[in-house]
Amino acid sequence: MKVKEIFEGVFLIGGQLTTKNLISGRSYSEKIINDGGREYRVWNPEKSKAAAAITRGIKNFPIKKGSKILYLGIAQGQTASYFSDIIGNDGIIYGVEFSSRAVSDLVRACEQRGNIVPIKADARKPEDYSWVEKVDVIYEDVADSEQVAILLRNVEAFLKKGGYAMIGIKARSIDVTKDPAKIFQESLAAIKTRMEVLDYVTLGPYEVDHAFIVCRPM
Ligand SMILES: C[S@@+](CC[C@H](N)C(=O)[O-])C[C@H]1O[C@@H](n2cnc3c(N)ncnc32)[C@H](O)[C@@H]1O
Repeated sequence: MKVKEIFEGVFLIGGQLTTKNLISGRSYSEKIINDGGREYRVWNPEKSKAAAAITRGIKNFPIKKGSKILYLGIAQGQTASYFSDIIGNDGIIYGVEFSSRAVSDLVRACEQRGNIVPIKADARKPEDYSWVEKVDVIYEDVADSEQVAILLRNVEAFLKKGGYAMIGIKARSIDVTKDPAKIFQESLAAIKTRMEVLDYVTLGPYEVDHAFIVCRPM
């Protein structure tokens, strides 16, 4: 079987995006590919904006073995489980989520994996989880009209010097009446006031009216 590593810890197998399972035998409901005793989990771009962004051709994906990540809007931990595979046991994900229901499912995933810390909090208020250490990567995927402001606030509080930020922009959450293309341009302009944009892709057809940005402080 031909396995091609396209980013550190992210593999293409027969045209499918995958990560190497950190805990063999445990998965959500995704397809598993076995290759010579190694177990790869298929990462579906229709179910994860980060996978859609990689499939749409971003050139920079800053999550690596050992990365420390602050994940805003981690929900039940579906996408985070792939980040958890990539960072391995030397990395850590601090996962912020304000829905009690999502957090209780997340806690189960965290017990299995050991490198995800669930935090029930509002990502608009970084002061409520100020104990979190500085991280290498901040990923934001919250459905909120203030998405970009939330990212910048958290970057200010938690991103290490030389770190990266990624955001999945959901145009319909920012303003349902506005043309998504205009919202993406406004979001880019707001990010560019403080950050250098390394990648910008729209996520159709996997996630309609969504875009993905990879950036770092200037
Ligand atoms: C699109 S879902 C995230 C999906 C997840 N990132 C994944 O790919 O597996 C957005 C999540 O953000 C959470 N959320 C929205 N606003 C938030 C806020 N201000 N603080 C924390 N969580 C928030 C929602 O409860 C929801 O679970």
